[in-house]
Amino acid sequence: LHHKLVLGIETSCDDTAAAVVDEAGRVWGEAMHSQTEVHLKTGGIVPSVAQKLHRENIQRIVEETLFASRITPYALSGIATTVKPGLPLSLGVGLSFSLQLVHQFRKPFIPIHHMEAHALTIRLTNKVEFPFLVLLISGGHCLLALARGVSDFLLLGKSLDIAPGDMLDKVARRLSLIKHPEYSTMSGGKAIEHLAKQGNRFHFTMNPPMQNAKNCDFSFTGLQHIAERLIMHKEKEEGIEKGQILSSAADIAAAVQHTTACHLAIRTHRAILFCKQKNLLPPANTVLVVSGGVASNLYIRRTLEIVANTTQCTLLCPPPRLCTDNGIMIAWNGIERLHAGLGVLRGVEDIRYEPK
Ligand code: KG4
Ligand code: ZN
Repeated sequence: LHHKLVLGIETSCDDTAAAVVDEAGRVWGEAMHSQTEVHLKTGGIVPSVAQKLHRENIQRIVEETLFASRITPYALSGIATTVKPGLPLSLGVGLSFSLQLVHQFRKPFIPIHHMEAHALTIRLTNKVEFPFLVLLISGGHCLLALARGVSDFLLLGKSLDIAPGDMLDKVARRLSLIKHPEYSTMSGGKAIEHLAKQGNRFHFTMNPPMQNAKNCDFSFTGLQHIAERLIMHKEKEEGIEKGQILSSAADIAAAVQHTTACHLAIRTHRAILFCKQKNLLPPANTVLVVSGGVASNLYIRRTLEIVANTTQCTLLCPPPRLCTDNGIMIAWNGIERLHAGLGVLRGVEDIRYEPK
């Protein structure tokens, strides 16, 4: 039995991840080391710390992946690795490790664009044909694109400032949710989702940003500042110290979550109408893919479902473990690239990569 197997390696941000996937989309093995706990303590990612942790873990993670897959590197058809975009110091660790393997086992190297990998993940879990629309929303990403082929994307919109997950993390930190035992182990976005369930979203009104902008771009710093000002005002009003949890925290979380959902929905709706008008998407049975850490938010997902229902679209989300950074999506992108005959580098000499 001959299987095309690809090893995927991901180190673009704060997760060291690897996986072996075959052409049928079957996962043979995977392993991952998350640095989240370390970065939570410093209140953000310190690139040199991330690099050090990647270096400490990459070999073990790749070995565990191969062991779980019960294969040696000789069985691989290629080694796929994220080369951009991401933190240059982090990317460098995955890249140099991969090049070593490529050299040692004489395997083709498949350079992967992290966003392309996120966008194609849905083709591993569902039979989705091109073209489809994809909304990527996480702590580091915010973009809306039309996927026309394996490596053919039309960027329709992006955040002009920060990503929605980043904004939710900042608001959660400003609300001191990390000090609350119930929320201390969650990401900021997840803490906001949980807290918002106890809140009233009508208590505070915030306007979705960029309502008159005639494009599909996003912006989240305005919303962040509105929330921060409101929190400061409420702290004075309730007479509490900075660092304590406000009695109105749940209402604030609900308003921020609702406004975020509305903003994402309005921009996505615009993109769908634009694409259908220009015949870039089929009139019916259109697929809208939503992925990234923020896509696991059920309130946001339900809001986007309304947009999908009113525009004859089907909303698809990869399962949460595939929405966040992982090795499987990198390996799968490698398989897709092999099939499409794209971007496979044969020798180490072909690989040009200059960390900034
Ligand atoms: O995709 P991801 O794991 O990593 C990258 O940022 O690339 O996404 C993490 C982001 C964080 O900002 C986190 O707050 C947000 O996704 N997030 C959520 C939820 N779970 C994670 N945001 C809203 N609601 C959630 N349930
Ligand atoms: Zn990512």
